[in-house]
Amino acid sequence: MRLQNKSAIVTGAGRGIGKAIAKKFLQEGAKVVICDINEEWLTESKKELSSFGEVYSILTDVTQRQDVEQLVSFTKERFGRIDILANNAGIARFELFLETTDKNWNDTLNVNLTGVFLCSQVVAREMKEQKSGVIVHMASSNGILGEAGLAHYNASKAGVILLGKTMAIELAPYNIRVNSVCPGFILTELALEGGMSEETVKNYTSKIPLNRYGKVEEVANAFCFLASDEASFITGTELVVDGGQLCQE
Ligand SMILES: NC(=O)c1ccc[n+]([C@@H]2O[C@H](COP(=O)([O-])OP(=O)(O)OC[C@H]3O[C@@H](n4cnc5c(N)ncnc54)[C@H](O)[C@@H]3O)[C@@H](O)[C@H]2O)c1
Repeated sequence: MRLQNKSAIVTGAGRGIGKAIAKKFLQEGAKVVICDINEEWLTESKKELSSFGEVYSILTDVTQRQDVEQLVSFTKERFGRIDILANNAGIARFELFLETTDKNWNDTLNVNLTGVFLCSQVVAREMKEQKSGVIVHMASSNGILGEAGLAHYNASKAGVILLGKTMAIELAPYNIRVNSVCPGFILTELALEGGMSEETVKNYTSKIPLNRYGKVEEVANAFCFLASDEASFITGTELVVDGGQLCQE
């Protein structure tokens, strides 16, 4: 029960890694608000997560400040405070740099980077008043090293890492910690629907020293650790969860 009595927000928790983070937080004793832009996934996820603890859901587009403000008011009304923010929502659309459209560039930067900025700023203003809080960003190993076909995605995740480091410096005086998690290849719908060829997906494990894809629970564990008091002296860093992939590239 590492998050006993803590209150948390997990964005993009309608499915995939976000749902696994919410489940882990609940299993560790936290009360959780989940949000997502997809109503059907959100409803389904909330139903599934309810058996693990106290969970509420609210439809939210993290790129819209008004939505984010509603998410925060909703959470404060239920829990009175916000101890943890997990900025997980993200999109990926495989597309070579020379073919990248303005729409895909803007959508990717909007959700993956601006969404993290908006949620973090609105929540951190509450955490400042509380004089405590923990924010964990979802970055990616693609925010550290490049990978063809994902220039917009890679740029957004590199931005998230540096946003996190800067926030860590500015928010430390208010006892707010900020870190990023950098997963490698985790087999989720996003990884499968992102536009990578079946062949690339099938052969991907050859790039990973542990010779397998990561599991959503393995990323959720990293979020839980960074969100917990076990990480009380850790801020402004990134935790890579990639089966060793970055060691050899
Ligand atoms: N799967 C991987 O291999 C991998 C690796 C590294 C990082 N990541 C990151 O992990 C996060 C989760 O990825 P996943 O694989 O679980 O993907 P996923 O597509 O299964 O889940 C992403 C969720 O975010 C939601 N979302 C998208 N846009 C949103 C918006 N504007 N507002 C609110 N919610 C929104 C989606 O509806 C979806 O439920 C993403 O940030 C992704 O970039 C994934």
